[in-house]
Amino acid sequence: MTIVRPASAADAHALVELAESVGREDGRWILGTGPWRSVADERRYLRTIDRHPDAAVYVAEDGSRIVGRLSLARDPHPASRHVADLGLMVAESHRRQGVGTMLLEQAVSWAGEARVRKLELHVFPWNEPALALYESFGFEREGYRKRHYERGDELVDAVLMAYFVG
Ligand SMILES: CC(C)(COP(=O)(O)OP(=O)(O)OC[C@H]1O[C@@H](n2cnc3c(N)ncnc32)[C@H](O)[C@@H]1OP(=O)(O)O)[C@@H](O)C(=O)NCCC(=O)NCCS
Repeated sequence: MTIVRPASAADAHALVELAESVGREDGRWILGTGPWRSVADERRYLRTIDRHPDAAVYVAEDGSRIVGRLSLARDPHPASRHVADLGLMVAESHRRQGVGTMLLEQAVSWAGEARVRKLELHVFPWNEPALALYESFGFEREGYRKRHYERGDELVDAVLMAYFVG
């Protein structure tokens, strides 16, 4: 059974491995193409946000294995503090089992507690699984950002999507 819980510093190693393995997939799903942040940096990051009301990381755990990650961060601009950005990934072995949906449900629950009214995210236009997940959950396409991200040695487009909470 897969559960979702807040990440702790002890998850740093597993989270780095998850991100690196998703980053190595041929689908070019996420920004990272090489090493993720180091385990020590990940541990520091997890410790920092543990005390931070404006950001959170959750993990999906199947038994003792970390199979998914959700990251949330409130927009720092004073006029858009009701907005938060999210990112997520699920281990290849655990896709199409509802884990991505569980992580999005957690994002909505965090938003409610953090008084965030709008969740937004960027997704690459070729990432059909992610576009399908977000649209099935109720995210809307808000825009198309050309050459918005540097990925490896190329500039790539991104679809901007949003979900209104409550
Ligand atoms: C995108 C991703 C998070 C989806 O996670 P998931 O756990 O497989 O999603 P779910 O099982 O909750 O899927 C929910 C619904 O989304 C849609 N969906 C998900 N993956 C799909 C796919 N490959 N093709 C078509 N529809 C898909 C379906 O409607 C699915 O419902 P169904 O399985 O009952 O048909 C996962 O594929 C992933 O981690 N990909 C690599 C990293 C990534 O792309 N992250 C997002 C970056 S923006």
